Amino acid sequence: MPELNVINLSKTYTNGRKTHQVLDDINFAVNHGEFLSIVGPSGCGKTTLLNIIAGFIPTSSGQVIAGDKPVNGPGPDRAFVFQNYALFPWMTVKDNILYPMKMQKVDIQIRETRLNELLTMAHLGGKETLYPHHLSGGMKQRVAVIRALACHPRLLLMDEPLGAVDTQMRHKLQLELEAIFRKDSATVIMVTHDIDEAVFLSDRVIVLSGRGKIAADVPVSLTRPRDRKNTEYIRIVNNLNDILDDIPQPQESELNAE
Ligand SMILES: Nc1ncnc2c1ncn2[C@@H]1O[C@H](COP(=O)(O)OP(=O)(O)OP(=O)(O)O)[C@@H](O)[C@H]1O
Ligand SMILES: [Mg+2]
Repeated sequence: MPELNVINLSKTYTNGRKTHQVLDDINFAVNHGEFLSIVGPSGCGKTTLLNIIAGFIPTSSGQVIAGDKPVNGPGPDRAFVFQNYALFPWMTVKDNILYPMKMQKVDIQIRETRLNELLTMAHLGGKETLYPHHLSGGMKQRVAVIRALACHPRLLLMDEPLGAVDTQMRHKLQLELEAIFRKDSATVIMVTHDIDEAVFLSDRVIVLSGRGKIAADVPVSLTRPRDRKNTEYIRIVNNLNDILDDIPQPQESELNAE
């Protein structure tokens, strides 16, 4: 059984008398342990799709099945990493990571064990008493990711998690994130603008077109960690860039009057 099933999902936003169909009959499934990236032009509905999967916003039609249950709202089975980290600034690293475990009423001893496991996994040992404003962007990002993983979610949803980090740090964090996900056997859906990042991290890349459809579903079956100089790696990156180049940018003129 897939970890996630998106079935005939459509989403229309209505603003006054104007409607805008952002997602149009989207179908895909994600298997356990799979890392799926979603790419597409700005405004094509990537965040909307991720928010629907998270249960933050409802579908207009169709449904999302997480495990064996239809998604009707947010749940601890689906953790979310926001682009701006969304750490609690008044809590230390330790308290930020413990927070979801407290909410889930995880046993105190298990909490402490998991906390240490996560800190080690993310190379953050010794940083637990610091506050978010003491951390670099990359460190905050790692705290946000391990906090999301704390309660072993079935699914980790990430919206441009490395959007705010420079290329060099990004490459370093990609390697670290990959190691964290492999170790935790996480199932991940990541939205990104960065095709190279998608190919580096994913088992599969879905391209959304500006018309709310899936333009391509591209498998990446290269051994990990990926070698950016590998011919097949370069071919997949170029292929995805070609697919994206052929997609027209969503235009305001595509807003339809009712
Ligand atoms: N609450 C809302 N009400 C009306 N329109 C919305 C709402 N949220 C998003 N939209 C519109 O839906 C479209 C898709 O938005 P979305 O944020 O999902 O795009 P995106 O692919 O994540 O873009 P980006 O790459 O720039 O983050 C946009 O045209 C946006 O203006
Ligand atoms: Mg977005």
